[in-house]
Amino acid sequence: MPRSNPAAPAAGRGEAPCRGERTRGIVAVAGAALLAAASAHAADPAPEEIEEGVSIYEDFCAMCHGRDLINPGGLALDLRKFPKGDFERFRNSVLNGKGGMPAWRDKLSDEDIALLWAYIGSSSAN
Ligand code: HEC
Repeated sequence: MPRSNPAAPAAGRGEAPCRGERTRGIVAVAGAALLAAASAHAADPAPEEIEEGVSIYEDFCAMCHGRDLINPGGLALDLRKFPKGDFERFRNSVLNGKGGMPAWRDKLSDEDIALLWAYIGSSSAN
């Protein structure tokens, strides 16, 4: 990995929420940990993160980039070939658009983008 991200915050440390109450806290902690993990690099995302990424992908991206990341042969980039270490470029292109791709900043949150990256960044065909 050519770049590392020393500024990535250590999120969610030691905050075991009480069972039965404060379910919102659990969601917030999980979200923060997910963002921290995704911005460092797409290291071993949990299966449920990948699943959520798949469903966001199917809603917003599959019509151009193809089902299961398999490019149907149009203009859109084959996302299986996107450089796995480059979350910053992924985030920028998705938020701001690129070439024939619209900007997604009004539709997707940072967390959505992290989930998409969990999916796309961990796809193995390359
Ligand atoms: C309307 C069709 C369309 C949709 C929908 C779409 N894309 Fe794209 N996407 C494109 C095209 C076309 C390109 C090639 C852009 C270029 O390089 O000119 C592209 C390129 C990209 C790239 C490469 C950018 C780079 O830095 O080279 C990424 C990453 C990407 N898309 C992710 C996504 C994600 C994630 C979604 C869903 C949120 C999405 N796209 C939805 C058409 C689309």
